[in-house]
Parts: sequence; C-alpha cells; structure tokens
Amino acid sequence: MTSSSARFGKSPKVAIIGAGVIGLGIAWRLAAQGARVDVFDRGPAGKGASHAAAGMLAACCEAEPGEDALVALGRESQAQWPAFAAELLKASGIDVELRQEGTLVVALTADDQARIHHHLTHQKKLGLPLEWISAAETRRREPHLAGKLAGAVWSPEDHQVDNRKLAAGLRAAAEAVGARIHEHKPVKEMSIVGGRVDGVMLADGVKVDADVVVLAAGAWSRGIAGLAPEQRPPVRPIKGQMLALKMDSAAPLTTHVIWAPGVYMVPRLDGRLIVGATVEEKAFDTSLTAGGLLTLLEAAWRAVPAIEELPIDEMWVGHRPGSRDDAPIVGPGPAQGLIYATGHHRNGILLTPVTVDAVARLVLEGTIDPAIRPFGIDRFAPPRAAE
Ligand code: GLY
Repeated sequence: MTSSSARFGKSPKVAIIGAGVIGLGIAWRLAAQGARVDVFDRGPAGKGASHAAAGMLAACCEAEPGEDALVALGRESQAQWPAFAAELLKASGIDVELRQEGTLVVALTADDQARIHHHLTHQKKLGLPLEWISAAETRRREPHLAGKLAGAVWSPEDHQVDNRKLAAGLRAAAEAVGARIHEHKPVKEMSIVGGRVDGVMLADGVKVDADVVVLAAGAWSRGIAGLAPEQRPPVRPIKGQMLALKMDSAAPLTTHVIWAPGVYMVPRLDGRLIVGATVEEKAFDTSLTAGGLLTLLEAAWRAVPAIEELPIDEMWVGHRPGSRDDAPIVGPGPAQGLIYATGHHRNGILLTPVTVDAVARLVLEGTIDPAIRPFGIDRFAPPRAAE
C-alpha cells in the first residue's frame, strides 16, 4: 500500500462510520495528528456494544484453541492498557477505572475443574500467566464464594475498565482535538467511484466528502450499502442479555472479576456488580427474557449465594459484532481509501488500544502493523480454484 499521507496530504479528511469505542478512539488518534475527522452514528455516541459491554480485558482466561493470533493481539492490547488509560485521563479528565485485581475462573464441582483444566493445558502451552489455585486459596481471595468450591484458575493480568466511562472519555478526547461527532446521523451508503471511496451518503440525503472512510459500525457494519454483499465484512449481531446488581461500595461482596459456570461477574468501584451474559443468535432482537435473566441469576447465585439480597440496578441487551471466525476485521477494505475496523465480537474493549493505534498508522502512514496483519478481510476470500 502506498503512503496515505502522500496521497491525502498531512491532514486527510476522514469519515468514520460508528461512534463506539473503536470509532471514537480512531477519531481521537487521527484528529490529534491533524486529520479532519467526522464521526457518524445511527444513534447516540457510545451507546451500542460499547455501552452494553462488561469491560473485561480478558486476553488470557478467554483464550480458546484455534485463536492463537487473536490471543497475541489481545495480549499486545492488554499491555498497552495502563498507558492508554493514563493518556485518556490526561486528554479527557475521565478516569476509566482500570482495576487491576485480576480474574478468577471458579470451579464449583469436580466436573467444572476437569473442564477448566482441559482449557488451562492449552492456555499454558501459549505461555499465558494462569495458574490453578486451591479451594482454600480461592476462598481467601473471595470469601463470599459458595460453600462447595473445587478451586479456581488465577489470572493475574486479566483486568477490567468501566466501558461506559471509556466511551465518554474517548468522545471528550476526540472532541477536544477537533473531531466532530454526529449523533443520530445514520450513514446509508459509502460512496465508491472507480474503485476508490470518496465519502459517505447519509440517510438524510446529504453527501459528505472524505479521502478515507473507516467502517467501525460494529454489528451494523454489513448494513451500510455501497459494496456488493460478498465484499461487506461478514459481521453479525450476537445478542447478549446482562444485568447489574448493587453492592455496598464500602463493603463489596467481590473485588475480582469472577467467571463461574455459565456466568461472569464484574465488580465496579461504585458497587455495581455486572452480571453477564447470554450469547444468542437472535439478530437485533432487544428483548430481555425471563429465561435469559433466570439463567444468569441462577449461575451467579450458585457461585456467590449472597447476591440473593442485592437490589437489581439495571438490565439491558447488547449486540456483539461477531465475525465469521470471532476475530476482528481490521485493515484495508475492498476499495481504495476504505478501512475496516469492526467485528471485535467479545473483545472490543480489550482491543481498543491496539486497534485505534494501528488504524491511525494505516491512515496517516499507509503502514499495516504486524499486529493486525492476520486480521484483514482477505482471510475470508474464497480459495482460488486450481489452474
Ligand atoms: N466479553 C464478554 C461478552 O461478550 O459477554
């Protein structure tokens, strides 16, 4: 790829589709370096998956077989998080509350233990810093765990941030350096002429010219017209139901992120305990269901029985942008000047630092970071027939 700055000058005009943490973060990075940036969102900024997420930075304990490249990307982003959070605090005045207590993956029964050990064997082969700890040691760290406990995997580097504060911080930081955020302004179509993108067409009929278009519309990315269906990113919504309970912030029941069979729990500094999440192929359905919430609450109650007394603070539904292989799609799109930054599935918050820096370099320097090279759209191209 030739240098973008050579093609577009020092201050390219960039249209970003999607004001989630990825779009807002890219806007911040680009505008800070002189680009003229407009961000468009179909709704309010930061209120899609960025709002619905739990904020876990779980590169280690969520590592699955077959995801080695994704784990490496997650680890790289995880390492960037402390500096990213500090920089964002300076730029926006908003503290994303990076909590560094780590994560416990709890086994309640011997069956859970066997399943977790199977995963742990693979995760340790990848060199991830995870270790099995006894039931007594697990209870020492989290005294409110259930009476029947087999032990846990201790993950000292899987932390959390408050994703809603992250979205607010990125918005403030982006606006402070001149990016313009256009809320309730859906993009209907990317305008592509002669194989090159030249702007976006809004649903209200206004055309906005741009040298570069970044598609960061999460689960909505496939719905933006302008490309043939087979060229659009293979991203679909994966519904998740979640809820928040209210603990006493001065005496919280838990301090670590806890995974237990069928559920995770993420304690915030303000006393909210985020409980998630269902994983449902239900398109953009937004209904909270008795079955979904019952499953989460029962699983959470089995692990931490004392939640029974906690008030429910909030319940919500979000849509993860799931790609065909559960990994993000980051890199040049199928038209000159078009860049994809979508499909982050369960890892959007974790992957924000590495994604936004890589996309900013792609736009301003024309270079593809080695970290994002495995995540181009080209990996979904059909195999070529033998000649
Ligand atoms: N990363 C947690 C979730 O997708 O539910």
